[in-house]
Amino acid sequence: MILIDGKKTSQDIKNEIAARVAEIKAEGGKTPHLAAVLVGNDGASQTYVGAKVKACEEVGFQSTLVRLDSSVSEEELLKVVEDINENPDIDGLIVQLPLPKHISVDKVTNKIKPEKDVDGFTPANVGRMTLNWPAYVAATPYGIVELLKRYQIETSGKHCVVIGRSHIVGSPMSILMARNGYPGNATVTLTHSKTQNLAEICRTADILIVAIGKPEFVTADMVKPGAVVIDVGIHRIEDPSKKSGFRLIGDVKFDEVAPLASAITPVPGGVGPMTIAALLYNTLQSAEKKVFG
Ligand code: GUN
Repeated sequence: MILIDGKKTSQDIKNEIAARVAEIKAEGGKTPHLAAVLVGNDGASQTYVGAKVKACEEVGFQSTLVRLDSSVSEEELLKVVEDINENPDIDGLIVQLPLPKHISVDKVTNKIKPEKDVDGFTPANVGRMTLNWPAYVAATPYGIVELLKRYQIETSGKHCVVIGRSHIVGSPMSILMARNGYPGNATVTLTHSKTQNLAEICRTADILIVAIGKPEFVTADMVKPGAVVIDVGIHRIEDPSKKSGFRLIGDVKFDEVAPLASAITPVPGGVGPMTIAALLYNTLQSAEKKVFG
């Protein structure tokens, strides 16, 4: 069984990005610049955005964090996005989700200039990805694709079962695995909450991508021996034996599934760390005008 090490792979990618940034700077080019907009005081969002800003520093990017009170109006937030859209020094823009209930996520997402949409959330980038055009691919699907590539996992002709049809993970993952390329050329089954005989379908998967958001949902009886298992879930559960009082688990019951799998991502240290590398990679692509030209 191969343990797919997302922590190491993410660090490898960050080192590659840092090397390219050093080259750009040595040639007198502009430092890539990411702007993050954070609305309110949600603890998890603050942690994520903090990690993104820190990662920018690590690779030599400039970053700007715009913090707005949770009472900000939709109109004010749209204006902040517009100003960043028009700021020629900023290459990438993310608005951390979730947003307060009085603000439309769709409206805000659609306001982001596709050329700066390094989260890959805008309709333009989702459409471009679907058409197999150059596009910013969202962080989690990008991270999974990169792990499959770097671990040279064969995907052509394989049966890939994706559990979960969210706009940011399951749905794009199903498109990427089916497209003509590598990774890709898989026969894909996209399953969701209304799927019947889920366990049976999962048992036919050569590659099982689990993004259902339920702790330890996938058990050994749902996995074909030799399958590649990618676990997107991340859940905090109480664990008094830990100093922190909690531990992290995924959507897959790791201890019983790992011995069956030919390769598997752990939680933590699998898909999670890859998402920041994806954001940095997309920002570099934007700075170098590699996606929209
Ligand atoms: N909230 C949780 N994940 C993400 C992400 O990838 N991007 C943004 N903008 N917000 C998030």
